[in-house]
Amino acid sequence: MESTDFHHALALLDWQVELGATEAICDAPVNCYDLPQTAAKPAAAKPAAEASAAAPAQPGKPSVDAVAAAQKAAAAADTLEALRAEMQQFEHCALKRGARNLVFSDGVAGAPVMIVGEAPGRDEDREGRPFVGAAGQLLDRMFAAIGMARTDTVAPVYITNVLPWRPPQNRDPSPEEIAMMRPFLLRHIALAQPKVLVVMGNNSAHALLEKRGITRLRGTWTEAAGVPVMPMCHPAYLLRTPSAKREAWTDLLEISARIADDGSHRNSGK
Ligand code: URA
Repeated sequence: MESTDFHHALALLDWQVELGATEAICDAPVNCYDLPQTAAKPAAAKPAAEASAAAPAQPGKPSVDAVAAAQKAAAAADTLEALRAEMQQFEHCALKRGARNLVFSDGVAGAPVMIVGEAPGRDEDREGRPFVGAAGQLLDRMFAAIGMARTDTVAPVYITNVLPWRPPQNRDPSPEEIAMMRPFLLRHIALAQPKVLVVMGNNSAHALLEKRGITRLRGTWTEAAGVPVMPMCHPAYLLRTPSAKREAWTDLLEISARIADDGSHRNSGK
């Protein structure tokens, strides 16, 4: 299938989901006026041995090879550009086939603050940049409130996601997808060398801290990949739950103070 056909088909599917379709019943359309006179006999059950041989081995689970391949590819990258190229060539993650673009990063590489989101949505997939939709606009306003921005050369931030490809219908990343792409994320952090990581949302916390329950984890410094981590509620959650913005503000002040202490923020006075 041509890739334009693929994206056309995906757009049609998206549209049907937006109209409320929840199930794909068959691969091909059924003409309900042309049903056979006699009901088809159910296929005879396969012998147990044949059935188990035909069953896919643990569907949805990355083979150890996929994780090992990701580790090898990530380790081979000595620069951020090389890492982007390795990810571009990585063929083990099925999400890549449904995505328009690899969403690698945005902002200033080497910035003291590295924000780790979950996965691209529709806008990010189209643009090939993380956090450009509604949640991203809120993210920009949040960091602007502490004098930081992705375009700011004085107090910049650097932004990436756990997954570089959009999951279909913006579903949550699966644990298998997170495990497969984690080696790239760890290498990304090692190459970007941030002073602090800001982990946005449950799936990012799962990827980097191996913990869930972001409303409990948020606001308390922890550590991952040898870097201090501030877990925060995801901006998409804050859009749905404005009452949580107050706590997000205290988290932002914590980040600002930590960077100032470190001497890497313009308001540090050092
Ligand atoms: N949500 C994310 O976690 N990342 C993006 O890039 C966009 C929305």
